[in-house]
Amino acid sequence: MTVLVTGGAGYIGSHMVLALLDAGEEVVVIDNLSTGFDWVLPPEVELVVGDMGDQALVEGVIRRRGVDAIAHFAAKIVVPESVADPLGYYLNNTVKSRALIEAAVRAGVAHFIFSSTAAVYGEPAVVPVPEDLPLSPVSPYGRSKLMTEWMLADAAYAHGLRYVVLRYFNVAGADPQGRAGQSTPNATHLIKVAAQTALGDRPRMEVFGTDYPTADGSCVRDYIQVSDLAAAHLSALAHLRKGGESLTLNCGYGRGYSVLEVIEVVKRVSGVDFEVRISPRRPGDPAQIVAKADRIRERLGWRPHYDDLEAIVAQALAWERSLKQRNLR
Ligand code: UFG
Repeated sequence: MTVLVTGGAGYIGSHMVLALLDAGEEVVVIDNLSTGFDWVLPPEVELVVGDMGDQALVEGVIRRRGVDAIAHFAAKIVVPESVADPLGYYLNNTVKSRALIEAAVRAGVAHFIFSSTAAVYGEPAVVPVPEDLPLSPVSPYGRSKLMTEWMLADAAYAHGLRYVVLRYFNVAGADPQGRAGQSTPNATHLIKVAAQTALGDRPRMEVFGTDYPTADGSCVRDYIQVSDLAAAHLSALAHLRKGGESLTLNCGYGRGYSVLEVIEVVKRVSGVDFEVRISPRRPGDPAQIVAKADRIRERLGWRPHYDDLEAIVAQALAWERSLKQRNLR
């Protein structure tokens, strides 16, 4: 039995590949390398460079490698970019996911794990956010992911596929063994930006808004460590292989940190008091998103191991240093 990981050369996908290998699984990756890197994959992993929406390619890989489960990470993920290029996002995240799901059904793949997002909740009316809150994404990115959730549910009902949808909150940190991390150049994510600023790669960083209705006025997010998230996928895989029912689950720790708190932690862990500017709000940022995080524990028995912002920041800094040393930025 082999697991097909789409987007396996990307940030979260590469941690999934490592988690699968550590668990003794056979893995094949399909990645078009638009934002991923082949060098992050261990040599024993087969990388098929191509498009996860190419059904002939995908079906060929499924049959040749005996794939029983697909973990679908490949996606465009930048919210403001999705506002500027909605059709590109619907093509990549929705239309190609439809093609992938159809290829899975045709080739008889029984299990599907899908990377969804807290962005499906939009501006949540309730915090912490439970999975059964009415969904009202406010960006093309969130809508492109929600449509795939719907397609999966409908295809599962019609064709007997079983799936786990994982709605990620803010993913951060790096492999504790230093084998992978967030490598995307020009990444916009808070902890990556703060780590780069601490290491002198950016002269300063900005805080987008301190006038939100939160304790210190900056936005609050639930940061989940990337290897913990990969482990949640392994638990989902085990659940599906045992015959478990389809599930939709939040992936977060259920604890929020403000942007200013995160920056303080990065300053403390790095020992660098870098310059921070207060800027206007960034369009589309909800004030506060924190997961209601019990269901994944109850349903999958998943437990986090790295629920510690200082450790997450230390991993992000270590990965940034290693990219610098290897001249991979
Ligand atoms: N921020 C700054 N300065 C920066 C970068 C970020 O102040 O240089 C702030 C943002 O304004 C936001 C917070 O830090 O308030 C977190 O921003 P990120 O860009 O790290 O993450 P987002 O919360 O915007 O995005 C995450 C996921 C998306 C998902 C979204 C759902 O990365 O994939 O949550 O709301 F869609």
